[in-house]
Amino acid sequence: MTPRILVLNGPNLNLLGTREPDQYGRETFSDLADSCGASARDLGLDIEFRQTNHGGELIEWIHAARSRCAGIVINPGAWTHTSVAIRDALVASELPVIEVHLSNVHKREPFRHNSFVSSIAVGVICGLGSAGYRMALAHLGHMFVEQAA
Ligand code: DQA
Repeated sequence: MTPRILVLNGPNLNLLGTREPDQYGRETFSDLADSCGASARDLGLDIEFRQTNHGGELIEWIHAARSRCAGIVINPGAWTHTSVAIRDALVASELPVIEVHLSNVHKREPFRHNSFVSSIAVGVICGLGSAGYRMALAHLGHMFVEQAA
């Protein structure tokens, strides 16, 4: 069966392309969704690409992923730095998680240097723009191939 990956995006990421382009680039959210879809096809993965501005909704999606998905790629946006609840939901999913940020959070304000997610993630990619999402998908794809071998 084709592994299904949930690609989750937190608050304000729907504004990509117009929001702080110096920080996040000019690529729109729909460009990002399309490029992840194309990578997933090349890698033999199914993806569900989602964004929400509501924390409870994100948590419900993570809970549901436990029985439906093989892994999670998540850019939690600002919730990265604030939400123990999202971290706990990710742990409860028992799925491999890769944390992605478009910008290099470590080059930015000190409050962005802490992540509640990083220590429970398989890996963290930041500062590489949308390529980070594609790298995260490639890593999960390789992990599943190795597990199946
Ligand atoms: C972000 C970094 C966060 O600090 C910020 O709140 C975001 C986007 C990124 O992708 O670089 O919303 O997660």
